[in-house]
Amino acid sequence: MKISVIGCGYLGAVHAASLAELGHEVIGIDVDAAKVRDLAAGQAPFFEPGLGEILQSASASGRLRFSTDMSEVRDAQVHFVAVGTPQTRGGGAADLTYVNAAIEGLLPHLSAGDLVVGKSTVPVGTAARLAARIDESGSGALLAWNPEFLREGFAVQDTIAPDRLVYGLPPGGEHREVAKRLLDEVYATALGKGTPLVETDFATAELVKVAANAFLATKISFINAMAEIAEVADADVTALADAIGYDPRIGRRFLNAGIGFGGGCLPKDIRAFSARAEELGRGESVAFLKEIDAINMRRRQRMVELVTEALGGQVYQKKVAVLGLAFKPDSDDVRDSPALDVAVQLNGLGAHVIATDPKAIPNSIRLHPQLGFATDTDDALHGADVVVLVTEWKDYRELDPVATAELVRSKVIIDGRNVLDPVAWRAAGWTYRGMGRP
Ligand code: UDX
Repeated sequence: MKISVIGCGYLGAVHAASLAELGHEVIGIDVDAAKVRDLAAGQAPFFEPGLGEILQSASASGRLRFSTDMSEVRDAQVHFVAVGTPQTRGGGAADLTYVNAAIEGLLPHLSAGDLVVGKSTVPVGTAARLAARIDESGSGALLAWNPEFLREGFAVQDTIAPDRLVYGLPPGGEHREVAKRLLDEVYATALGKGTPLVETDFATAELVKVAANAFLATKISFINAMAEIAEVADADVTALADAIGYDPRIGRRFLNAGIGFGGGCLPKDIRAFSARAEELGRGESVAFLKEIDAINMRRRQRMVELVTEALGGQVYQKKVAVLGLAFKPDSDDVRDSPALDVAVQLNGLGAHVIATDPKAIPNSIRLHPQLGFATDTDDALHGADVVVLVTEWKDYRELDPVATAELVRSKVIIDGRNVLDPVAWRAAGWTYRGMGRP
């Protein structure tokens, strides 16, 4: 199929390359000329495992191109909108500027039989409004909403082999059939492998995405709330998570207590969901999301307290080695990153922060040039008064407590992701503190 993808960020670039990899002919459009140049040269503009490889193989096949010129979408029949919906400044609601601009930009190039497919995470009701806009333009194109559930770090695999597909289809028998037929053709490979498909209306498809992220955020904040209780009761939240996780109705995944969730999705999506629910007069239905957000933000604060305590209450001019800056491992994304936030707060208290991360240093420098950075883990650890693990990269999970002890000034480690073995670290002479662990 001939497909266009509008917006080539974390979502769109992976989507475009994956569709080309699956055999479609794809044109990716972005307003950022530097990004388009990188992508066209087969270079991923951000770190995502496997993206570089599929960009190169798809470009070499001639099936994948990138451009800043929207008119190049003309030949395509299916147009994915994958632009960002950031949080509005000074409010929780989603900023739809880029989604609206993408639709307006597409309109002059649409023809009868085309399908516009929304992938961006939007407030419920947006698709119906955009469908009306496309309708009144008289192009004869249709709209469908097809939310994306990819996880950064696994984005390629989640796009090529998703765990489910959701089609928000337009009302009206014939339109619904046409949209479904085109989406089935786009996703023929995944459907052929038996990927579950939920066919529904616009509003449900929009809600599925925010509900999924609200649920995941709730699961994380639930276990972090248990960590807060465990801290005062001298209990161990990790053993608690293991024990409740054996119940298949609960499940162990997303029950890792620590410094909480961040990234470009979960934090902004729960805020936007609250804002939209309030607009719809049902703010109370998701009022708990404000608590979820508050619990999450408290964990970062708790981490700073633990470091302060470990330093005997005196942070000023102490050397703090911060291991990790990305919001999660296998990503260079520092949007709303709890790890970066902790580093910034400690720096603000006068600590001599030396932060390291396998991929996220350049993005962190852009936002917070005031921090100290070291590309080498040993350099970050050298002479540290306290070591703070805040992103659970494999390199940090596998640190050897004996060898690490040789580098630091004080053998004190705070494990903000509960990924180290306290027994091994204590045996090597370290003072170990986890989050919600005795
Ligand atoms: C999330 C959703 O998982 C994905 O389906 C959606 O499409 C986009 O948002 P992502 O932002 O890539 O994906 O990250 P995710 O793996 O969900 O992790 C989010 C945050 O939660 C990270 O900061 C992570 O460290 C944290 N987390 C995750 C925990 O603190 N504990 C856990 O048990 C799991």
